[in-house]
Parts: sequence; C-alpha cells; structure tokens
Amino acid sequence: MKNIAVLVSGGGTNLQALIDAEKRGEIKNGKINCVISSNPDAYALKRAQNNSIHTEVIRRKDYARFDDYDKALTELLQSRNADLVVLAGFMTILGSRVISTFKNKIINIHPSLIPSFCGEGFYGLRVHEAALAKGVKVTGATAHFVNEVCDGGPIIIQKAVEIKNGDTPQVLQKRVMEQAEWNILPKAVSLFCDDKIIIKNNITEIID
Ligand code: GRF
Repeated sequence: MKNIAVLVSGGGTNLQALIDAEKRGEIKNGKINCVISSNPDAYALKRAQNNSIHTEVIRRKDYARFDDYDKALTELLQSRNADLVVLAGFMTILGSRVISTFKNKIINIHPSLIPSFCGEGFYGLRVHEAALAKGVKVTGATAHFVNEVCDGGPIIIQKAVEIKNGDTPQVLQKRVMEQAEWNILPKAVSLFCDDKIIIKNNITEIID
C-alpha cells in the first residue's frame, strides 16, 4: 500500500475527488495519509479533517530562505513516509530538493492540454482566460509528473473538454474540473499506485 501525501492551497475539490475515489475502492493500492497546505485557511484542510486525514500546514513565508523551505517540505514528506506526492491546487513553487528526492513520484493536475497554456504564469483562471483569448475550441486537463521544468514533466493522462459559445473563464474552469480534472487525477494516482506507469525519455507508457 503506497502512502499518498496531497499538497493543497485552496478549496480542495481535487482532493475531494481523490478522497471519494479512494472510498469507492478505485485507488486499491494507495491511501491518502496526509494533506499538507500552504495556507492555514484552505477549505481543503476541512475536507481532510472531515475524513480523519492527518493535516499539516507549511508556509513559504515562515522561512527566510527558499532553500530552508525546500528542506523543511522534503523532510515533512519523508517523515510521513510519502511514496507519492500529489499537487492538487498547490500554489507554492517546489524546490529542487523536493523534486529530486521525489523524482517521478510527484503528480500535478494542470487545467489545460499541455503543452498549450502552461508554464510560468499559467495557473488558476489565467489558464482559461488564455484559452478563451486564443479562441481554441477544445481545452482540457493534464495529469503529469513534476520535474524541474514548470509543467514540463512526463504526461500521464489528458482529457479534452469542449469550449462553448459565451464561455467565461469561470464557466470554463468549472467544466474543466467537472469533466476532466476530477476524473483523470484519481485515475493517474491509481495507475501510479498499481505500478502501471513506465517512464522512458520523459514519455510515459501505461501498462494494461
Ligand atoms: C485546479 O484548477 C487545478 O487544476 C489547479 O488548481 C485548481 C485547484 O482547485 N492546479 P481545487 O483546490 O482542487 O478545488
């Protein structure tokens, strides 16, 4: 059974999707054993507590140097024996120590079809604003591993979502979450926990 640490900053609907999938028996070989928030007021913490999941708060601003923060987060994850780290709306940049310690063991959910609308500055509503500004007719979400390149790690699963006339960034964000993010993030986590993802040259292969 793999220990899953979920890192959050906000509402935690992706965390909720993971909790619900685990409850439905869809993550057979993994268990969320800790939720770590960058924000003490995140509603995601309440979702964890409602489900008796251990919680921690770690704030970048409590550390003078970024290196100290990076070390503290790495040690916190190690102290929880994390086998997998899931970024579910985590708004603080990860440092090189945590990324190298958990190489190919950190999964992020991004609200676009990478490589479109991703990289530095593309987070939250900005991603959907950019998709609408470009006029693309299809967007979606991507579950991918995290490496040192922002949104550049191996892609695990993608799901497309239609853009409709009159969409606002908020409306599109909601559709992408409902139709894609909440669906593919638990699937990617389940595949990881079942050891079904092989990575070669930055490309994943899913074993049937
Ligand atoms: C999601 O849109 C996710 O793709 C992005 O941040 C948002 C988090 O929402 N990385 P929530 O906290 O899971 O509700």
